[in-house]
Amino acid sequence: MFETKKIGMALIKCYAMVKLKIQSMKKIIFVATYVLLVSCTSQKKEVVNNKEDYQIIPQPTEMTRKNGRFLLDSTTQILCSSNLMGEAAFLSDLITGAAGKGLGISFSGSEKGNILLQIDPTIEYAEGYQLSITPNGIVVSGKTSVGVFYGIQSLRQLLPAEIENNGMAQKNWSLPAVEISDNPRYAYRGMHLDVGRHFFPVASIKKYLDLIAMHKMNTFHWHLTEDQGWRIEIKKYPRLTEIGGFREGTAIGLAGTRNAPYTYDSVRYGGFYTQKEIKEVVAYAKARHITVIPEIELPGHSLAALAAYPQFGNTKGPYEVAKRWGIFQEVYAPTEATFGFLEDVLTEVMELFPSQYIHIGGDEVLKKEWKESAYAQEVIKREGLKDEHELQSYFIKRIEKFLNKNGRNIIGWDEILEGGLAPNATVMSWRGVEGGIAAAKQQHDVIMTPGTHCYFDYYQVDEDAQKEEPLTGSKRHTSVEKVYSYEPTPPSLSPHEEKFIKGAQGNVWTEYMPTWDIVEYRVLPRMTALSEVVWSAKENKDWESFHHRLQHLSKRYDVLGYNYAKHSITKTD
Ligand code: ACM
Repeated sequence: MFETKKIGMALIKCYAMVKLKIQSMKKIIFVATYVLLVSCTSQKKEVVNNKEDYQIIPQPTEMTRKNGRFLLDSTTQILCSSNLMGEAAFLSDLITGAAGKGLGISFSGSEKGNILLQIDPTIEYAEGYQLSITPNGIVVSGKTSVGVFYGIQSLRQLLPAEIENNGMAQKNWSLPAVEISDNPRYAYRGMHLDVGRHFFPVASIKKYLDLIAMHKMNTFHWHLTEDQGWRIEIKKYPRLTEIGGFREGTAIGLAGTRNAPYTYDSVRYGGFYTQKEIKEVVAYAKARHITVIPEIELPGHSLAALAAYPQFGNTKGPYEVAKRWGIFQEVYAPTEATFGFLEDVLTEVMELFPSQYIHIGGDEVLKKEWKESAYAQEVIKREGLKDEHELQSYFIKRIEKFLNKNGRNIIGWDEILEGGLAPNATVMSWRGVEGGIAAAKQQHDVIMTPGTHCYFDYYQVDEDAQKEEPLTGSKRHTSVEKVYSYEPTPPSLSPHEEKFIKGAQGNVWTEYMPTWDIVEYRVLPRMTALSEVVWSAKENKDWESFHHRLQHLSKRYDVLGYNYAKHSITKTD
């Protein structure tokens, strides 16, 4: 019995010793692990990022660089609520190349090691966002999904350009830690494209929209009708595209400008977007938080429409879709039949475009035909108008009334000021800034697109170097630095009047852009400069800094396959 007790005691002692040993070993392992962890963490903390890691265009409102990096690999998940699914899918697709497959998207899970997209209603600005990157995770917060989308655009630029290439083999990437709080300066940040003079397929339009989104711009002004081509299918008037969509030749070289003779090729040229394609473009834009504003030119720049339906002209014609550039005498007649036709066209346009604004043109309306038309003179008399300028104003006001009745508003080029502004019109100031100033003083909204800074069809280089460039119709030039120097809010406006300046837009008239390559060349990097003009706080603008960041962004243009004016990026003077 005693023996058994002794053995028992020995066993207990032995067990106690082993337990003690295990405990102290556990302690040692615990301490060692702790030391290892601490040293690892402090090693992580030691990662000091390079200033070159933070090259974002447009420059964010506030950005604080931090130490440490977030490792992005194929296990990284995107966490979001269902209303941010579109943004999550955009980000997942973007990172496809880097991770070898799209990042997984999940509605729940740990934020640790993942990318969280979230709505934060406490963010002050409508399009504002916050981006927080730490070694433990990424959080993109937006007041709405728009802000989240812009946060993703900043996140994107903190990743190497190679990530844009979907063909990349599996690779891991890391992002520098940062805290960003950002919002745009102007609500309207636009890019225009004339598809009348030259026509570009839907694939090109999507590439354009991709650029607009990458630059945090939000409006695509689609100039769809011109003297040289009607580009939008209208079911009720099929001849608009059958006849108006094609011309029987195109002016060669500088025809008609700088004393060059008119010569034409005899190649039938044209094309148009079906309503199905238009819907596809509008949906593609919407997914990128871009509003598409269609422009239906009236009462001028309407020769292609008149070639299709001569009954809406002032003369019997004959009319032919224009083969040369410039301004034409032929304009719509101010008849009830014309208004009926335009209302039908605009009804189909409104069905295709959900935008609050419809651009109705209004520029460069020659008055000769109205002066010579007995009917137009009768309208002037009937309506108690002073002259043809007031007749133009009457024309625009009638169209505005129709669109307002349908819950839409008009935008017109600054000539719509002449003869009296339509009551709710927004003015696009292109012949300088004076039209914009006059409209703001009349308490009308304004979008600034002055030819001096915002016309991207002009050369980017001065006259000496223009021989090396793709031909354009004027010797005028606007360098990327000049675009960057643009200040959309004129100093002559009072603080109250300033509020009517909604933003600015780059205009791209394509007379001398027969191929899509040239469009990209003319636009890049000038639209990049404009994106910072319309987004970044005035006090954050700095040409040297922008020019440096542009060298980084141009690597992204390369990987994405955009053509751009390299000399505008590498030049240091
Ligand atoms: C314009 O450039 N005609 C608006």
